[in-house]
Amino acid sequence: MDCQWLIFLTALLFSATTDASHCANHGVDIVRNISEEGQDSYGIPGLSHTTVAGSLMHGLKEVEVWLQTIASGAATPIHRHSCEEIFVVVKGSGTLYLASNSDQNHPGTPQAYPIFTNSTFHIPVDDVHQVWNTNEQEDLQVLVVISRPPMKLFIYDDWFMPHTAAKLKFPIFWDEKCYQTRATKDEL
Ligand SMILES: *[C@@H]1O[C@H](CO)[C@@H](O)[C@H](O)[C@H]1NC(C)=O
Ligand SMILES: *[C@@H]1O[C@H](CO)[C@@H](O)[C@H](O)[C@H]1NC(C)=O
Repeated sequence: MDCQWLIFLTALLFSATTDASHCANHGVDIVRNISEEGQDSYGIPGLSHTTVAGSLMHGLKEVEVWLQTIASGAATPIHRHSCEEIFVVVKGSGTLYLASNSDQNHPGTPQAYPIFTNSTFHIPVDDVHQVWNTNEQEDLQVLVVISRPPMKLFIYDDWFMPHTAAKLKFPIFWDEKCYQTRATKDEL
């Protein structure tokens, strides 16, 4: 075999291994330094996301943990999901918008709740919500725990969009890479 071809193949194999090492079942270290885990906006303005412990990334079955930083003026999309979600505000402050009127065909005007450092809140299954950093001075940092990963996200353009029109996003932004890795593996 041509030597250059071999080098190319080796490089390809190495890059594949490096990529896949972010995805489950490659022997995740017991203790990890989250400052050294990847952070990414995944194309969402004002977001920095780290999957601290994930289903597709680390092989968890029941829960998943994220650390997210939302810049001043930025927000999550208006969305819902059929899992439980618990937030702990590690730093900063903002506003939680929560629509709990699940008997209507759309979310409707949400209730606004101020959130602040050391506050915690949980989002009931399927309740439509949005988290905003409404503090102009500071980043909002939250630790998020969800049940039943990997998450299927339903995104709304506004609070009056019918539930049936909400757009499904699956896999969720930060799961895309590992989902593809897994899918490719399953095909082989
Ligand atoms: C964790 O990672 C950060 C960023 O690389 C580093 O500054 C820190 O020293 C690490 N902590 C330990 C205990 O290695
Ligand atoms: C958050 O709570 C911890 C534990 O009670 C406390 O040590 C810390 O000072 C609190 N931080 C703020 C900003 O309230």
